[in-house]
Amino acid sequence: MATILNGKKLKEKILTELKKKLDGCEKKPSLAVILVGDNPASQIYVNNKRKTAEIIGIKSNVIKYPKTVTEDELLNKIHELNKDENTNAILVQLPLPEHISKENVINIIDPRKDVDGFTPYNFGKLFSGEKPYVYPCTPKGILLLLEEYNINLEGKHVVIVGRSNIVGKPMLQMMLNQNATVTICHSYTKNLSEITKTADVLISAVGENIIEEKMLKTGCVVVDVGIFKDSTGRTRGDVDFENVSKIASYISPVPGGVGPMTIASLMLNTIELFEKQNTKTPL
Ligand code: GUN
Repeated sequence: MATILNGKKLKEKILTELKKKLDGCEKKPSLAVILVGDNPASQIYVNNKRKTAEIIGIKSNVIKYPKTVTEDELLNKIHELNKDENTNAILVQLPLPEHISKENVINIIDPRKDVDGFTPYNFGKLFSGEKPYVYPCTPKGILLLLEEYNINLEGKHVVIVGRSNIVGKPMLQMMLNQNATVTICHSYTKNLSEITKTADVLISAVGENIIEEKMLKTGCVVVDVGIFKDSTGRTRGDVDFENVSKIASYISPVPGGVGPMTIASLMLNTIELFEKQNTKTPL
């Protein structure tokens, strides 16, 4: 039976340390979150981010717009937040409505305030093998979780299913930084099972229940990034947890695995940006 990669527990440990650190600071970091429209999942994520920030002493400012907002209105708000000395970190919750270019919006965030690490500057730094100002939250949280359980990645075959900018692509580079051998699979991949069968570490970030026990080798480490509600309203991940947990060595549950680690990383990144801005650390 697999050991559970308990993200909820590690998140609490990280937050306790961060709260202690911020309790001793007179000036507090501040995080601005832009939420557009009424996507129910985004509303829940943003609410969790806001509540967690407040618990540990990060000031949070959630700016909500209807789905009819224009791109110019969003761009103006970001310009304003870029200039605002009391805003240390900016997050634009994705997805955005179709009439708004995600790239145009993300591209103008000041890289020093880019808490997701999604701007071309930070993404480019990451892929050139240099240090970005901060690392993207979900891959960072996954690495912290694997580190907590002493899972060494050097020379391991890491198979990532999903090629999004939020998870798959930055995870690829961050796994290369750990000296892993990395394969990315996606919806056009042929013979997915043949590839996943060779994984020492499988990371799935698709949002569909696709990973079955027969697709994996015994002893594989399984990280489930997917989260969605099935037709019965139950929260599910990408992985058939019940059966895969019988053959995996480690497995992250949904909920309680990667999700809490994304939030913990967001808090870590907000504080890191605050400190770098205060010490005028160059980009
Ligand atoms: N939507 C889903 N995950 C994320 C994330 O990590 N950052 C942002 N900005 N939006 C998301």
